[in-house]
Amino acid sequence: MSFRLFFFAIIILMSKPLIILNWKMNPARPSEAAKLFKATVASASAKLNLVVAPPFIYLSELNKIKSGIQLGAQDISSETAGAFTGEISGLMLKNQGVKYVLVGHSERRWLIGESDDLIAAKLSASLRAGFKTVLCVGELKQVSKAQAWSFIAKQIKRGLADVPEDKFKNLIVAYEPVWAIGNGHTATLEHSSFIAAEIKALLGDKTPVLYGGSVDVTNIKSFLNSPDFTGVLVGGASLKVPSVKKILHLFLK
Ligand code: PGA
Repeated sequence: MSFRLFFFAIIILMSKPLIILNWKMNPARPSEAAKLFKATVASASAKLNLVVAPPFIYLSELNKIKSGIQLGAQDISSETAGAFTGEISGLMLKNQGVKYVLVGHSERRWLIGESDDLIAAKLSASLRAGFKTVLCVGELKQVSKAQAWSFIAKQIKRGLADVPEDKFKNLIVAYEPVWAIGNGHTATLEHSSFIAAEIKALLGDKTPVLYGGSVDVTNIKSFLNSPDFTGVLVGGASLKVPSVKKILHLFLK
């Protein structure tokens, strides 16, 4: 391949929208996980970078299914090995084919009770292990853009406190307003674009920013058509085959 062709191939690869399907604690059975994954693979378009983040327990089986889809983990231990009951290390994830890791998802912050210190340690562990690492941030309730940003800026700065700058290249930030998760209320494009612009002003223009919070077939394109967002994080709408198909078929044309 000539240098020019190689260069354009890289640009095309980089400009593909990134869609991360976060299955959270679903589905209950391995057979359902395989079925959902295969349906997702069947609808996947080469125009997308598609990532499925299933519960840890399904990674091994899904990794055996041939697909163009990358696997993500919903969490990672801040530790590398040893006596840490219930934890999953970066090396374990690597050995299951995981390429992307979510850190600081709002459900882990606010429902499970992960502290800022723990999230910072996990972010550092994940970036040091070489994963494309998605730091999830977002304000708790509907407030002004400026108030939301002041809250999020603190989450980002605290999260990155232990990360050396040369590890920032694999960092992705997901803006997920907590009040918009799982309930059909999305943030306006104006509000979320403002936050995305502030994230880029803080971390550099090249930092990919995702939007998450009730993304579905009706609104996904508005976020992906916006130059402020590299992609989206989809929760509820990634769990039912018809809904996944509808979303992914938008990108087949
Ligand atoms: P949702 O979840 O799409 O169900 O709102 C998104 C997320 O929590 O990542």
